[in-house]
Amino acid sequence: MTKVRAGITGIQGYVPDYILTNKELETIVETTDEWITSRTGIKERHILKGEDRGTSVIGIEAVKGLLKKTNTDPSEVDLVICATTTPDMLFPATANIICNAVGIKNAFSYDIQAACSGFLFALTTGSQFIETGKYKKVIVIGADKMSSIIDYSDRTTCIIFGDGGGAVMLEPTTDGTGIIDSVLHSDGSGEPFLHMKAGGSRKPASAETVLAGEHYVYQEGATVYKFAVTNMAEVAAEIMERNGLTSENVDWLVPHQANKRIIDATAKRMGVGEEKVMLNIQKYGNTTSGTIPLCLWDYEKQLKKGDNLVLAAFGGGFTWGSVYVKWSYDSEDSK
Ligand SMILES: CC(C)(COP(=O)(O)OP(=O)(O)OC[C@H]1O[C@@H](n2cnc3c(N)ncnc32)[C@H](O)[C@@H]1OP(=O)(O)O)[C@@H](O)C(=O)NCCC(=O)NCCS
Repeated sequence: MTKVRAGITGIQGYVPDYILTNKELETIVETTDEWITSRTGIKERHILKGEDRGTSVIGIEAVKGLLKKTNTDPSEVDLVICATTTPDMLFPATANIICNAVGIKNAFSYDIQAACSGFLFALTTGSQFIETGKYKKVIVIGADKMSSIIDYSDRTTCIIFGDGGGAVMLEPTTDGTGIIDSVLHSDGSGEPFLHMKAGGSRKPASAETVLAGEHYVYQEGATVYKFAVTNMAEVAAEIMERNGLTSENVDWLVPHQANKRIIDATAKRMGVGEEKVMLNIQKYGNTTSGTIPLCLWDYEKQLKKGDNLVLAAFGGGFTWGSVYVKWSYDSEDSK
């Protein structure tokens, strides 16, 4: 019997209009365009402005575009999973808010939180519902409004993050394409190095926590960097070995966009040349759950049915992982 796999049959990204450049950051914190570019590869990032506008705004725009592009009636969608670290509210799930706004009424929906690996965790989870034959149309979203938890007086974090995301449609395939394999990891001992101190049940929001700046990203950059550079490269290499992939037959590395130097190290470990590496960190910075769908969106036109894609990410938690996707459609005309 032919194996049923979850194929990605459409991708749509969204970034808000406002662009925060390195030049503007120079006027906010003590930094330079040269320092940010050489240490991270980032030139600008998009910021979601306006009152009462959360991550769902990004997800809604992405899902609306995805439904249109894939000619899908909202009533056909079975399941929606939203990976995000910056939900609109602690509850209800941002996925529910998105569904309500776009008219998806027959699906159940929930959020997944795995920091920058969130999209890969959600993609793997969503693919299981297709592979079992239970559902026919699953939407997986990765979106974050990182500007809502960034301290714009902390030059070590405010230069890195931006807002944005995207959504993919998963449908059953029997032609050998789709999500072939995934390797996912978590290690809770990473908590001290990357987290948000307050606003959860351990330390609920209070006047004191706000005053102490505990609702912002806390990051020990050098420790995170060391962890990321090793683990993202290793997990990408592991998925290649498990699936008999070589530097020749990998068509694209789709890396989480946190720091260009980490991406370069991963590509080197895989033996993959820079022409095969999806890169848009210069435009968007680190959008957490949004980086991988934004890469797929930006490069969609260059993808061909049967292309071998290795997706790789790492993030707070720590979390990290890799997913091997055999691309399911020719994309020349679809964006
Ligand atoms: C944050 C990061 C870019 C900092 O780069 P780095 O090369 O490690 O820099 P360091 O933290 O060692 O700091 C080096 C110096 O630059 C300074 N510096 C930090 N941010 C700066 C900035 N925006 N502009 C200018 N100087 C800066 C530091 O204060 C330090 O100065 P000192 O030597 O006088 O103390 C890097 O650690 C990183 O990318 N880490 C991973 C972060 C990440 O990926 N997070 C997301 C996880 S998904």
